Amino acid sequence: MNIISIISKKRDKKALTKEEIEYFVSEYTKGNIPDYQAAALVMAIYINGMTSQEITDLTLAMADSGDKLDLSDISDCIVDKHSSGGVGDKITIILMPIIASLDIPVAKMSGRGLGFTGGTADKLESIPGYNVDIPIEKFKENVKEIGISLITSNLNLAPADKKIYALRDSIACTANIPLIASSIMSKKIASGANKILIDITCGNGAFMKDIKQAKELANTMIKIGNLAGREVRCVITNMDEPVGKAIGNSLEIIEAVKALRGEIPEDIKEIVLALGTQMVLMSGTTLNVQEAEKMILNSIYSGKAYEKFKELVKKQGGDVSFIENLDKFPKAKHIIPVLSENRGALKTIDTELIGNVSVYLGAGRMKKEDDIDYSAGIIMNQKIGDVVEFGQALAYIYTNDETKIDGSIKNLKSAFILDPKRVAKPKAVLGIVK
Ligand code: URA
Repeated sequence: MNIISIISKKRDKKALTKEEIEYFVSEYTKGNIPDYQAAALVMAIYINGMTSQEITDLTLAMADSGDKLDLSDISDCIVDKHSSGGVGDKITIILMPIIASLDIPVAKMSGRGLGFTGGTADKLESIPGYNVDIPIEKFKENVKEIGISLITSNLNLAPADKKIYALRDSIACTANIPLIASSIMSKKIASGANKILIDITCGNGAFMKDIKQAKELANTMIKIGNLAGREVRCVITNMDEPVGKAIGNSLEIIEAVKALRGEIPEDIKEIVLALGTQMVLMSGTTLNVQEAEKMILNSIYSGKAYEKFKELVKKQGGDVSFIENLDKFPKAKHIIPVLSENRGALKTIDTELIGNVSVYLGAGRMKKEDDIDYSAGIIMNQKIGDVVEFGQALAYIYTNDETKIDGSIKNLKSAFILDPKRVAKPKAVLGIVK
């Protein structure tokens, strides 16, 4: 077997065999195939696609490329959740304590920010003391003791995905169904869950730009999951605007904590209810949709989810006084409004641009080794459908770097398009596929 014949086969639109896919994944992970040959193959996959069988073979080969986590000593039913990424997406931080408060174990590993999208691990680290990097035995112990642990993976789970993802990022091959499906599913299979819920974000701030693509991705992941013996369900959520109003690490923690205390914005509530309901149903706690919804709302409004989040923060070494008194989070030195130069209903938000400006302000990394400024980011003042007056704030930028203010304001102004006519509020949940 050699990589040149594999590349030429895919270049010529032929299906690869399981052995060829396994050869590529294992040799590339070991460093025996150079990046330029892997890039040629990935680009050929991007352009010519893969059959369902090829995508499954790629996923399983990637899942087998490193360690596998066994969570069967915690429970025989671990329901995991993954988002395909977006802007202002703090759903995990709100949803997982709710689920844990319903006695459904939560053992979740989350990633760091990637490109214009934020990462849950970075957001949690904005809570002083919160340690996302605990040993795996401690992770399991925390789940056994308090029913929840949220960390970043320090195991060698699906290392092939790490390499292939970084390569895709550098050759403009991120937004592609076979590559996204295998990336997400390989990590989920390696991390030990037997039931997997995927939040597929859809819109101009997501990899899937329209509902047709999102449904295709959903069906692909469900098929892979079934072939790998995992139950998979997908909820498609709207990413034509940021989730909630806050973008940036501690800004999102503050919004998430308020939501857990019952001050929950409508779009976040809709998403949390839809995802939460599917998780409760998959866990077998109840099979009745209305009952599952009632359990979730009760967890929020009774304060149970908020208490569970505080328990989690404490267990991970975080300073709970910041959660109890949100004013303790350091504020950015400069908080500047971005003022509207027109009047009208907000029709379109360039969500990816908002994400990129937030990264530029310091909330994400421009380069892998960059430090994050936890207090930097953006607070949206308007959502789609709101009527904006001339001179009213569209958003506020939060930064500690004065030199970034002018450029950010100019870019952000171009991210909002107003319409003289009334604009309907969009739905936050676009569909459920199972
Ligand atoms: N999230 C992932 O983990 N992988 C992708 O390819 C896209 C989003």
